[in-house]
Amino acid sequence: MKYGFFDDNALEYVITTPKTPLPWINYLGNKEFFSLISNTCGGYTFYKDAKLLRLTRYRYNNVPYDNNGKYFYIKDEDTIWNPGWQPVKTQLDSYECRHGLGYSTWKSSKNDVSAEVLTFVPMDDNCEVSKITLTNNKKSSAKITLFSYVEWCLWNADDDMKNFQRNLSTGEVEVTDGGSVIYHKTEYRERRNHYAVYGVNSKVDGFDTSRDAFLGAYNGPDSPDAVKNGKCTGELASGWSPIASHQIDVSLEPGESKTFIFTLGYIENPEDAKWESYGVINKEKAKAMLAKYADVSSVDSALAELKDYWKGLLSIYHVSSSNEKVDRMVNIWNQYQCMVTFNMSRSASYYESGIGRGMGFRDSCQDLLGFVHLIPDRARQRIIDIASTQFQDGSAYHQYQPLTKKGNSDIGSGFNDDPLWLIAGTSAYIRETGDLSILNEMVPFDNDMSVAKTLMGHLKCSFDFTATHKGPHGLPLIGRADWNDCLNLNCFSEHPGESFQTFGPSEGPVAESVFIAGMFVKYGEEYAELAELLGDNAEAERARAEVKKVYDAACTAGWDGEWFVRAYDANSNKVGSKECEEGQIFIEPQGFCVLAGIGVEEGLAEKALKSVEEKLDTKYGVMILQPAYTKYHLELGEVSSYPPGYKENGGIFCHNNPWVSIAETVLGHGNRAFEIYKKTCPAYIEEISEIHCTEPYVYSQMVAGKDAKFFGQGKNSWLTGTAAWTFVNISQYILGVYPTHKGLSINPCVPEGFGDFSITRKYRGATYNISVKQNGAQKGITKLVVNGKEVSGNVIPYEEGVKEYTVEAQIG
Ligand code: GLC
Ligand code: GLC
Repeated sequence: MKYGFFDDNALEYVITTPKTPLPWINYLGNKEFFSLISNTCGGYTFYKDAKLLRLTRYRYNNVPYDNNGKYFYIKDEDTIWNPGWQPVKTQLDSYECRHGLGYSTWKSSKNDVSAEVLTFVPMDDNCEVSKITLTNNKKSSAKITLFSYVEWCLWNADDDMKNFQRNLSTGEVEVTDGGSVIYHKTEYRERRNHYAVYGVNSKVDGFDTSRDAFLGAYNGPDSPDAVKNGKCTGELASGWSPIASHQIDVSLEPGESKTFIFTLGYIENPEDAKWESYGVINKEKAKAMLAKYADVSSVDSALAELKDYWKGLLSIYHVSSSNEKVDRMVNIWNQYQCMVTFNMSRSASYYESGIGRGMGFRDSCQDLLGFVHLIPDRARQRIIDIASTQFQDGSAYHQYQPLTKKGNSDIGSGFNDDPLWLIAGTSAYIRETGDLSILNEMVPFDNDMSVAKTLMGHLKCSFDFTATHKGPHGLPLIGRADWNDCLNLNCFSEHPGESFQTFGPSEGPVAESVFIAGMFVKYGEEYAELAELLGDNAEAERARAEVKKVYDAACTAGWDGEWFVRAYDANSNKVGSKECEEGQIFIEPQGFCVLAGIGVEEGLAEKALKSVEEKLDTKYGVMILQPAYTKYHLELGEVSSYPPGYKENGGIFCHNNPWVSIAETVLGHGNRAFEIYKKTCPAYIEEISEIHCTEPYVYSQMVAGKDAKFFGQGKNSWLTGTAAWTFVNISQYILGVYPTHKGLSINPCVPEGFGDFSITRKYRGATYNISVKQNGAQKGITKLVVNGKEVSGNVIPYEEGVKEYTVEAQIG
């Protein structure tokens, strides 16, 4: 069952009922000011950091669960309704929500009054602009009242939920222009240099800034007293819960429309210009911001600018094939999700509260892989930011806070895969741009410039960390965990409440990871290539010798007969082996070792992928492990803490499905690679939205596995490494346009009957118009013609100064 449809020409997903199985959300903002917004207008706004600088309140873990948003109420005689249906939930006569790239719109009607709402964050301002147009379609004139509503968060979202003894006394506001402009200035009197503003471009007939006054002490936003009475109270908040609400009485003749523009902004002032007069905030910048969006034409042109920006970004990789769903995902939604994950890492979604996790070290490095072609300059800065939090021995904080860019140990350190992801991200950046200068940038350790090294020096630390932290089988030590945060082999937690991520020793001398072995082979080689590019052949040779040792260990101690072992635990027992009672096979080493090339020549790779197909595959995707753990294993940690079929315990953890799909392309299996691609691909499962539940335009972290009661149900949508890895899979391996250090390589691996396709790829200042003919085969370029000349091999030779490449390729 579907709850909407894709409008590919408009680059939008159209939701036709507010009652989606879960809130279906969108992200507004591209740089520093962001909002999450659901199809019923729930959500919240923050500047830079969802924990430390949150502008509006959201209530996670509440009922109903999409609780609080930036709402408009329309009172038309005795009927009160919202364009997004929530929070009043009056049955609407019509409803449509469109989520576009960085904006959302609603078109709803009730009793012959219609409302059109557009909400977006303009390109270069720290504000969210909402344009609302009310139209009277009745035969008689209408007198309606429009109310706005936002509830302020007292900035630190974590503290805001806990520290009531203080917070209920600190709230402060200012109101100007007869109530049209409301300022939230809590803590501005002391150490903050920022305030928020919510203004409307018209005269108002009332306002409120106190939540209790507006709602009535015992009411929720679903039945505000002020709206019921048709009149705001004009109360100035002092402590408790400050809000901002405008009341506008609107008379409309039959057929008449009126438009209002509301702007919610964030303003920072320098220390010496904080005040206009004693106790009165300096509003200069706020006034300028509100003035900028005070008329419809400037709002429309700011939206046009945003749309052009996205069109430009999406023209960097564009495919036309006979497969509409592939085109839609590649050209629109997958790349859009890559931008969102790059911006947010795992910090703020409807499943990530914005107070737990900042920018993950491994997460952000992987997000780069799907984002780097879009805005390489931002990727470059991100690499430097991440590397700046690394420790001198190469290990890493698991996350850093976006506002301060400093690592913190709140969710641990000592995840031994972390260091290698830095090589992955840097190599992807250089293959995309050719910019070797980044390797010579001086980058601090743990933000301490006195111990800086070049970025290449950091990569060496990453490489050496793994090379020198090996266990009894010559495999890399796992530390607290590797990519699978829940494989806590040194933790031995026996008491509830102990964090699996921080409890116990950060490293034991025995527990090893075959997955990290796969990573080391893949990214160790990429490190060696970088060393060569810098002319350091001795280092490249040394690196390759280290890689060889781990490769051999993976093929021996890491091999279980039919598939790769997952790990060795702290007692040196196998994890993910036929010898185990539960958890006999895990997906990660099969996907990653094979995509790294391990066991391809030896015939192990074919076997490993066959085993994946036999033991882990389902109709909704490939599960992370089988059989799922039915009891808690002290020696394995969190992985066995989840009920079977959920999350890391046998869920379809979408992130590693593309690894297996890529691995299949390495072996030339286009049919199977594509089959795996399709199973978790949103556009392909849109039809089963009532089972899948999460948004049909983006990937979710997890789909419940076959052992779970709700097999096929998605959870944790939006912020997942699945976005980047799937884009890498489809764009670089299946469609086969892969950036190498020497130029673009063309080597697709597609299913039989996929048909001919063409790709436009902008790369290092040139445009490549690539057309691929499929003569029935799945893989293997038999002819490559570049600007009329046949070339041998797969790589399009890069020629300085050539701006257009016409490339004709033939498979089979
Ligand atoms: C979560 C984390 C990611 C981790 C994965 C597997 O998605 O964000 O870092 O690799 O879980 O445990
Ligand atoms: C839990 C989750 C995992 C996540 C980790 C870090 O272990 O299962 O997916 O990566 O927490 O927050």
